[in-house]
This record gives sequence, C-alpha cells and structure tokens, in this order.
Amino acid sequence: MEKRKFGRSNEAVSALGMGTYYDVMDTAALGKAVPGRAEKAEGIRKGIELGMNLIDTAEVYMTEQLVGEAIKGFRRDDLFVATKVWSSRLRHDDVLKAALRSLDRLGCEYIDLYQVHWPNPGVPVGETMRAMERLVSEGKVRYIGVSNFGPKQVQEADEALSKSEIVSDQVEYSLRCRDPEAELLPYCERGNIAVVAYCPLARGELARPAGRLGECVGKLAGKYGKTPAQVSLNWLIGRSGLVFPIPRVSRPERAVENAEAAGWSLTQDEALLLGRC
Ligand SMILES: NC(=O)c1ccc[n+]([C@@H]2O[C@H](COP(=O)([O-])OP(=O)(O)OC[C@H]3O[C@@H](n4cnc5c(N)ncnc54)[C@H](OP(=O)(O)O)[C@@H]3O)[C@@H](O)[C@H]2O)c1
Repeated sequence: MEKRKFGRSNEAVSALGMGTYYDVMDTAALGKAVPGRAEKAEGIRKGIELGMNLIDTAEVYMTEQLVGEAIKGFRRDDLFVATKVWSSRLRHDDVLKAALRSLDRLGCEYIDLYQVHWPNPGVPVGETMRAMERLVSEGKVRYIGVSNFGPKQVQEADEALSKSEIVSDQVEYSLRCRDPEAELLPYCERGNIAVVAYCPLARGELARPAGRLGECVGKLAGKYGKTPAQVSLNWLIGRSGLVFPIPRVSRPERAVENAEAAGWSLTQDEALLLGRC
C-alpha cells in the first residue's frame, strides 16, 4: 500500500485508511447482514496486513475497544491510530479525561492522532488546544487534528497552538460530496495539512452508483478490472497527495477490496472527466 507523508507530520501513512464507525441502522437499511464483532476485528487485521496503517475511531463510535483488540500483536509503531474527542467535552479538563478514557479503551500508551470531532462555538478553541498540547507534552498524543472544521476554524485552532501544529482536518469528501474542493482543500494544500476524507464511498452509494455517475464509474471499472468502489477511492487519492480516504472496514473482504483501490491510477483525463460526471 502506497504510503504518503501525513501533512506536516513526519509520518508515512497509508494513502487509504480504515474507518470504524458502524452505523447499524444504515447497514440494516441496505438489507445486508450486520457484520459481527469478530468479522470487524478480522477486517481491521486484514487491512493492517495489507499495509493500511491509518485506523480511525472516536470515543462516540464505541469502537475504540474493538480497535484495541484488533491491533494486538502488531508492532504499535507501525500503526497510526486516530481517535476523536466529542464536541461536548472540549473544556480543558474534559479533554484530558476523555483522552485517558480513550487510551484505556484502546489499550495503548499513546494516540497517534487526537482529533476534535466537531467544533463547539461555546468553548474557546484556545482552551481545547491548551489541553491538546498538554497531552502532547505528556507523550499521550503525538499529533493534533480536527474534524468538520472549515478553513477559518482550522486557522484559529492552529494559531492557538504554541509548540504543536494542526496536522489534519477530517471532513466528508467523495465523488458525491465535493464541498472541500471550494476552500478547504486549497487551504490545506497551502498549509501542508492532511485532509482525511470520511464517507469516501458516500455511505455505500458509490459502491453501486446510479445515473450518469454510475455509467462513468462503471466504464472505468470495466476498463481497469476494478469495482466501482475501487474506482471512486482511486479518484479520491488522485486528487491530492494530502487526501487520505478512510472507507469503513466491516469485514476482511472489504479490506482487500479497499487495498486494491490503490497502487494504480486513472489517467489525468479520466480523473477529470469522472469529476465532471
Ligand atoms: N469525522 C466525522 O464526523 C465522521 C463522520 C462519519 C464517518 N466518519 C469516519 O469515516 C468512516 C467512513 O465513513 P462511512 O462508514 O460513513 O461511509 P463509507 O465508507 O463512505 O461507506 C460505508 C458504507 O459503504 C458500504 N460499502 C463499502 N464498500 C462497499 C462495497 N465494495 N460494496 C458494497 N458496499 C460497500 C458499507 O457496507 P458494509 O457495511 O457492507 O461494508 C457501508 O454501508 C467511518 O467509519 C468513520 O471512521 C467520520
């Protein structure tokens, strides 16, 4: 799996990571069997074996423990474990307590990337960042990230840090949701900040896209012998070396399919045309 420098950090992180938010309602609504805990853990382990070292969770996903169990037996320093603090816990002491609970559930001594899940206008960002820096100085967190922040909010968070920097912003980004391209992606490219792309398959829609987009994706899938999901993920990692999609991994077959979305490229023209479909 291709590794990329994760923004301003010094880390080599897999171009594709693994999401671990399992929206049971969503899966049930799609009429599929709900994957069990063992299947999910096996999926994460398969992904790691295939070189996907970026694993994303959050305190509110209730999957930190699952991630902790799945990564047992792998070299910790080969992995890039990312989790998030929820927006109602952004006061200084609440952040510190939330991080300790996450570490406990993950069974880890440190979190590679600790992200603010959503901004909270009721808490000064400087207060949250002070707690984040304390966690870094104590060795409990290696890098600080944010999620669902616009460019101005990323800038404010970054300016509130004295010794560290914001290394990433996690936002929704896919062939279906292009919002980050207007301002956020150019801002991150100027500042060398990684963009972690969530819902990169538009919550499953891009695994079987319909209409004109479906036709375009289908043609390329046929040409390269890939699935529509692989074409959609390949398009995304081709957008910028700073984009790290995190499709959710629910079983080993998904990890294999996602891993094979990297290591090849659409031509520039194909990527351009696909983006216009
Ligand atoms: N920061 C935030 O606020 C935020 C918000 C949402 C999500 N996230 C993160 O982003 C990750 C990914 O987002 P997501 O899980 O919502 O969406 P996603 O990865 O875009 O899509 C997941 C859906 O796609 C289906 N799928 C994936 N590959 C498929 C394939 N090849 N064929 C058929 N169906 C396929 C999955 O089904 P199966 O269940 O069968 O695999 C699931 O229903 C999450 O796990 C989480 O870590 C972050």
